[in-house]
Amino acid sequence: MSEPICYLNGDYQPLDEACVPVLDRGFIFGDGVYEVIPVYAGKPFRLDHHLERLNDSLNNIYLANPLSDEQWTRIIQQVIMHNAEGDQSIYLQVTRGVAKRDHGFPGETRPTVFVMSNPFSAVDTKLLEEGVGAITLEDIRWQYCHIKSIALLPNILLRQQALNAGAAEAILLKADKVTEGAASNVFAVLDGKLVTPPKGECLLPGITRDLVVELADKHDIACEQRDISREELLHAAEIWITSSTREILPVTHLDGHPVGDGLPGPLWQKMYAIYQDHKNELRQAT
Ligand code: PDD
Repeated sequence: MSEPICYLNGDYQPLDEACVPVLDRGFIFGDGVYEVIPVYAGKPFRLDHHLERLNDSLNNIYLANPLSDEQWTRIIQQVIMHNAEGDQSIYLQVTRGVAKRDHGFPGETRPTVFVMSNPFSAVDTKLLEEGVGAITLEDIRWQYCHIKSIALLPNILLRQQALNAGAAEAILLKADKVTEGAASNVFAVLDGKLVTPPKGECLLPGITRDLVVELADKHDIACEQRDISREELLHAAEIWITSSTREILPVTHLDGHPVGDGLPGPLWQKMYAIYQDHKNELRQAT
């Protein structure tokens, strides 16, 4: 495969040659935000939603968006074109730029803008047939989880704790209520209804989450956005996790116990098929 090409501050260049100064506030403080956007058949999926969330994240950290939506779209399209033919995953990041280390915001610093593409690895069919395991953990993160911050150390520690326990994800609980996964949103089937926690500062407004809610509505699948207690989660008939890279994954074991009968449930089968159809429509659209 040819050398991946990325975009950094105005230039397209080989990924392994792209460098950021050590005083970049992203490196020093984790002072920046990011997006991950799936690309199917060369087309970025729900790009407008991702750009809107990027703008919200930037507003929330008091950093002016350095590019217009048109500029972002052009750069993302160029990076897609420079890279593999197959499905891709665009990663973009904006930091507050390079400045002498000082906690307060720097004066006239130019934000650092970085965009790269990775091959989109389709979810392993074994995981779709058998589902994945998850563990519940206390949500130890901060109060602004709606910001897609690059400072992900708590998320990383939580995910690693799940991996060390042989699970694929940590489902997080705050004051005995589900917030989200370490890098995903959470759905549960409770009394035959699809339920997901409401948006707010305790969780990332996932683009995949919103699409699942939208598709449920379109296909007359009852879906409630309300709190899920630990007790409800432990007795859910089905649990799913959603993200741009994992799409919709069934969680078939929670804390070592089977969820429902321990296999991907019927509502997941239905929603997964609806989601794939939706993706395929986009692939075929001219
Ligand atoms: N993360 N919640 C958290 C904490 C996440 O990190 C993610 C995704 C999601 C799902 O959001 P979306 O559906 O928009 O991908 C929810 C990305 C994929 C990542 O960090 O790689």
